[in-house]
Amino acid sequence: MNLRTGNLPAESTSFVDRERELAELRRLVGGSRLVTLTGVGGVGKSRLALRLASQLAHAYADGVWFVELSSLQEPALLAHTVALTLGVPDQSARLPGEVLAEYLAGRRLLIVWDTCEHMIAACADLAAALLRAAPGLHLVVTSRVRLGLSEERLFTVEPLAVPEPGEIGPDYTTQPAVVLFAERARAVAPSFTLTPQVAAICHRLDGLPLAIELAAARQRVMTVQEITDHLADRFHLLTGTPHGDPRHQTLRTTIGWSHELCEPKERLLWARLSVFAGLFDLDAATTVCADEALSPAEITHVLRALVDKSIVQRLPEGYRMLDTIREYGAQWLAELGQDEPLRRGHRDYFLGLARWFYADWYGPRQIEWYDRLRRRLPDIRTALDYSFSRPDQQLAGLDLAGCLIYCWVCLGMVREGRLHLDRGLSLAVEQGPELARALWASGWVTLTQGDYERGQVRLEHALRVADELGDLEALPHAGAITAVAPALAGRNDDAERLCGEVLALVGSRHHDCLFVVHIHRLIARAQSGDLDGALETVRTIRELSDRHGEVWARSYADAFGAGVQLGLGDFAAAAASARAAIRVKSSLNDALGLAISFTNLALATAFLGDAARGATLLGIATAQWQVAGSVVAQTSPAFVAAHTRCEEHCRAAVGDQAFEHAFGEGEEMDLRAALAYALHDPGRRR
Ligand SMILES: Nc1ncnc2c1ncn2[C@@H]1O[C@H](COP(=O)(O)OP(=O)(O)OP(=O)(O)O)[C@@H](O)[C@H]1O
Ligand SMILES: [Mg+2]
Repeated sequence: MNLRTGNLPAESTSFVDRERELAELRRLVGGSRLVTLTGVGGVGKSRLALRLASQLAHAYADGVWFVELSSLQEPALLAHTVALTLGVPDQSARLPGEVLAEYLAGRRLLIVWDTCEHMIAACADLAAALLRAAPGLHLVVTSRVRLGLSEERLFTVEPLAVPEPGEIGPDYTTQPAVVLFAERARAVAPSFTLTPQVAAICHRLDGLPLAIELAAARQRVMTVQEITDHLADRFHLLTGTPHGDPRHQTLRTTIGWSHELCEPKERLLWARLSVFAGLFDLDAATTVCADEALSPAEITHVLRALVDKSIVQRLPEGYRMLDTIREYGAQWLAELGQDEPLRRGHRDYFLGLARWFYADWYGPRQIEWYDRLRRRLPDIRTALDYSFSRPDQQLAGLDLAGCLIYCWVCLGMVREGRLHLDRGLSLAVEQGPELARALWASGWVTLTQGDYERGQVRLEHALRVADELGDLEALPHAGAITAVAPALAGRNDDAERLCGEVLALVGSRHHDCLFVVHIHRLIARAQSGDLDGALETVRTIRELSDRHGEVWARSYADAFGAGVQLGLGDFAAAAASARAAIRVKSSLNDALGLAISFTNLALATAFLGDAARGATLLGIATAQWQVAGSVVAQTSPAFVAAHTRCEEHCRAAVGDQAFEHAFGEGEEMDLRAALAYALHDPGRRR
C-alpha cells in the first residue's frame, strides 16, 4: 500500500564519510527550499541526497520522498511520475502539475528528484510551480547541471578526500576514499589488507566513489599491485587534455578498464542488459538477453559475475545498473550492431507480460500485479516509446498500451494510460483487434477522467471497428464501457438498456466485460431506486468475483452496495460493505473507489447515530474526492446528493460549529491516518 509517509529506498551497501557535506547541506536546506547537488557522474550525488533525506525525515510531517527520474524519458510524464511516487492517484482530466500543486499545498514534506540533467527545462518549470504553490515543500535535486532557478542553492559534490601521493601519512587508513576501497575490497576478498598503495590507487582514481568501487571489486581476482599496474597502463594511454571535467575522463577510463577485464560473455551481457531502463529480474534478463551466443543457463552465472565486478547491483527488489555503466553498455551494444534486435526483444518481453496481465486480470493476482507493474513502469514506457517511434512497430505498441488497460484504469494510472493510448491512436495503424481494444480502452480512460464527449467519440469508433471486424472480444467490452457515461450522469434507463444489450450479446458465455457490465447496472439500478434489483446485482458480482478469485470488481460491488444498503436502511451492513471496499481499494491505489466508499461510510456512521464521526469521515471523503479528481463527483447527481444528505444530517445532529470542526479534522488527515480511522469500527466489541 502506498501511503503518504515517505519511500526512501534502503541502502544496499555501506556509506562512507560525508559528515561535513551533510552538515552543510542540512544548513542549506534550512535556508532554501530548493537545493541542487551537482557534480560529475559517479561522484556520489544520489547517495548523498538519500542520506540527507533520511537524516531530515523527522522534520517533515508528511514524509520524505525519493523520486527516481533517470529512467524517465518523457518530460510530459514528470509531474505524473512525481505524483505516482507520492501515491497521489491520477484519475482526473486536470493537468498533473496542478493536481500535484494542490495536493502539496497544505503539506510539509521533502522530495528528492534524483537525476534531472536530461530534462532540465521540465524539472525547472515544475519545481518553480510547486514551490510557489506549496510553502511547506522542500526540494532536493541531483543533477549534473543546475536547474537555473533564482531560489536554487547549489552544492557541488566533490569526490572523496584522498591523500596526495607524496603525503601519505600514517593516517591514510582513515581517509574516506581509502575506507571506501577497503570496505568494498573486503566484501569480495575477506582477507584483504590495507597498504599505502591503495591510497595511491584512490588518488589515481581522483577519489571518485564509482571508480573506486569498480577497482576494489577487482580485488577478488587481482592483487593491489596488479590493479596499480593495470591502471597505470590504462591511464598512460590517455594523451592530451580531455574536454570538460577531467574526472569524467577518469570515470570513463575506469569503466573502460573494467570492461576490458570482463570475459567476452560478460561484456556481451553488460551491453544487452543496457536495454533495461529500471529494475530487472533473472527471468527478464534471460528472456531478453539469451540467444545462441549466450545460453539461458549461462545468463545466471554471467550475471552473477557482473554483480561481483560491481557492474550490476543486486538490490532486494531486483537487479539494476548505475546510469554511467548502463550508458557504456548501450554504446557497446550499438557498436555491436545489436541495438535494434535487443530493444525489440525487450519490447516483446513487456508485450508478453502485458498480454498475460490482460488475460489474468480478473483472477486472484490483482494486488500482486499492481506491485509488479508499478516497478516495471520505466521499462514499459521505454517499450512503448520504442514501438511508437518505429513505423513497423506501431501496431505492437498499440497492442501493448491496450493490453495494459486494467493497469491504467484500475490501478490509478488513468492519465498515463490516456497519454500512451492517444499517442498510439494518433498513428495510422491498420484495422485489427489491437486497434479495437485500444479504442475502447482509450474510451474508458477518457470517461474515467470525466471527459464524456471525447470518450464517447472513441467508444463509437471502437464499436464501429469491432463491428466491421466481427470482433466478439472487443464488441461487448466497448458496449460495457459505453454504459459508464449514462450511469454516472444519472440516465439510468439508458444505462440499463445498454447493459442489457451487452448481456444479450454475450449470452451464456463468460466474458471479462461482465464484471464491468454488472457494476454499471448496479449503479443505474441503485440510482433509479430499484434497490432490490441493485442488491441482486451486488450478489451477482460477488458470485462472479468469488468464482474468479478477483477483488477489484467485488470491491466496487461493496462500494456501491453500501449505497444500496443505506437506501434500504440497513446502516450496519452498509458500514461493513464500505469498510470491505476500502480495504481492497487502498491496496489497488484506486482513489475513486476510496472516495465513494468513504462517502458511504460517512453516511452509514452518521445514521448509526455517531454524527461527529460521520462528519470526520465526510471530511476524509471530501479530501479523497479532490485527490481522485472531482470531475466525476461534481457531475454525478448521486454523489452530490449523498454528500449533501450526509452534511445536512450531521449538521442537524451536532450543530454547525461541531460539524465544521469534525469535518476539518477529517479533511486534514493523511491517507494512512484516514484509513486507520475509517477501518476502526467503534461499534464492534472484541
Ligand atoms: N559516501 C559514499 N559511501 C559509500 N558509497 C558511495 C558513497 N558515495 C557514492 N558511493 C557509491 O558510488 C557509486 C556512485 O554513487 P552515486 O550513484 O551516488 O553517484 P552519482 O553522482 O549520483 O552518479 P550519476 O551522476 O551517474 O547519477 C554508487 O555505487 C554509490 O553507492
Ligand atoms: Mg545519481
